[in-house]
Amino acid sequence: MGKIRLQKFIANCGVTSRRKAEDLIVNGKVKVNGVIITELGTKINSTKDIVTVNNDIIMENNNFIYIKLYKPEGYITTVKDQFARKTVIDLISINERIYPIGRLDYNTSGLLLLTNDGDFANKLMHPKFHINKTYEAEVKGLIKKETIEKLKTGVTIDGYKTAPAMVKVIGNSHNKSNVQIIIHEGKNRQVRKMFNAVGHNVISLKRTAFGKINLDNLLPGKWEYLSNDEINSFG
Ligand code: URA
Repeated sequence: MGKIRLQKFIANCGVTSRRKAEDLIVNGKVKVNGVIITELGTKINSTKDIVTVNNDIIMENNNFIYIKLYKPEGYITTVKDQFARKTVIDLISINERIYPIGRLDYNTSGLLLLTNDGDFANKLMHPKFHINKTYEAEVKGLIKKETIEKLKTGVTIDGYKTAPAMVKVIGNSHNKSNVQIIIHEGKNRQVRKMFNAVGHNVISLKRTAFGKINLDNLLPGKWEYLSNDEINSFG
């Protein structure tokens, strides 16, 4: 094996994304053969050099894992919770260390992707890739056509105007509406805040698709490995 940039090596080891690996390097958390390296351009020999992050030896990971989970409500999207609440990782019975790509609120259900491939995660999270996320929201009240138009063109949340979205009503009953909304941004609690901004509280929220990947026949709480087609669907 030839030489490889230190930040790429750290990402390949599944520690974190390449960008966050750069922060670790600059902050003096990374040693190569016992010497702290803070220079970002540094190249290492991935088969000979011993690299540590926070004093733990890391090894290259040629076994990347890509998982889709149907997150139920009542699980927190993190690896560990300081309040000992159930986390999405509790639902996945594998030995390898993986982490969620982005997050769903505690009370949101639906499709969540997880991996140990830092670059893949970074790519899917980066706003410039404009990956569509599809949600189904059950909201209070019967939603009007004009309101749908407002959501489509963008509403102001936290002083920020949301980008154009695809929005359609998929059902109405007893003073509630079911709405499908497709956004490519990922601001904190974005869908809930968008509906609040037009006067409709969200009763329940489910993500049904991330890019071209959808829940298929997964049941709540269940997970499966992504197919190669799904992994490659992000181009
Ligand atoms: N928007 C929200 O409001 N919550 C989520 O969990 C995801 C998108």
